[in-house]
Amino acid sequence: MTGAFSPEHALPHPYVFADSGRRERDRLQLLARLTDPAHQRALRAGGLRAGLRCLELGSGTGTIAAWMADQVGPRGHVLATDINLSFLSDLRRPNLSVRELDVLTDELPRGAFDLVTCRALLHHLPRPESVVERLAKALRPNGVLVLMEPDAGAAVFGGPEHQRFWSAWCRWGQGAGIDFRLGHKLPRIVRRAGLDLGDVTMEVPFYSGGSPWGELYRSTVRAAGPGLSSWIGPDPVAEFESLTAPDSHPMCSFGWVTVCGRAASGTKAVRAR
Ligand SMILES: C[S@@+](CC[C@H](N)C(=O)[O-])C[C@H]1O[C@@H](n2cnc3c(N)ncnc32)[C@H](O)[C@@H]1O
Repeated sequence: MTGAFSPEHALPHPYVFADSGRRERDRLQLLARLTDPAHQRALRAGGLRAGLRCLELGSGTGTIAAWMADQVGPRGHVLATDINLSFLSDLRRPNLSVRELDVLTDELPRGAFDLVTCRALLHHLPRPESVVERLAKALRPNGVLVLMEPDAGAAVFGGPEHQRFWSAWCRWGQGAGIDFRLGHKLPRIVRRAGLDLGDVTMEVPFYSGGSPWGELYRSTVRAAGPGLSSWIGPDPVAEFESLTAPDSHPMCSFGWVTVCGRAASGTKAVRAR
């Protein structure tokens, strides 16, 4: 499953949060703890069941891949992939394999999977539309694609300072090649990849300082590194903490959008007109 498939995708695009240290492991474990329930609901609604062959891209700490392996049982199989396998080394299931795979440059087998999924990956990639087209082509007839990505549009529910902070965050993201407004674009992208659009949902968790979601966003602001300062101020973490002071109201910034698309039965996915 290696080998560049097209020069346009071979452009270097470093993953901004690339880090194999304990802090990043903790951040991804917290992300998994908070987003697994909605992701699992979307996978179940998409028809995940015993015997299916599944692929996950950008598996992170592998909690979803391990859970899917338990659901598909001994007659099914799960392939967990990532560009960074450091957090997947402990993943052990008889029906689960782990492989290094860069979704931008490595080939995916065509028509090979009943279910393909990824979470919090596409918004980090240039031209996510073309990645989704390739994920659609990896599906068997009737196969299902389940995507889950954030969208910072929910910041409109906060006060002006809060909105300013997350607007600056999104502008920093644009410069770093990250689209923090990707979530709401997914239904159109899935349709354009030739899939029938199924359930679309968005969960908007409210958070305050010290709450698990607050801690996830605080650690993500910290992980963004010094480049963020020119957008937010000299100390972005202190700025975030001042917005989430103990006496402040709970607030929200990201909606987590899940989208399900299904390949036609018996025909290959084709681009919608
Ligand atoms: C924000 S983390 C999400 C991890 C996991 N999906 C989750 O939601 O818990 C993004 C993951 O995508 C991986 N990643 C980044 N660029 C990638 C690429 N081009 N191909 C495959 N995986 C990639 C990163 O190594 C990281 O594990």
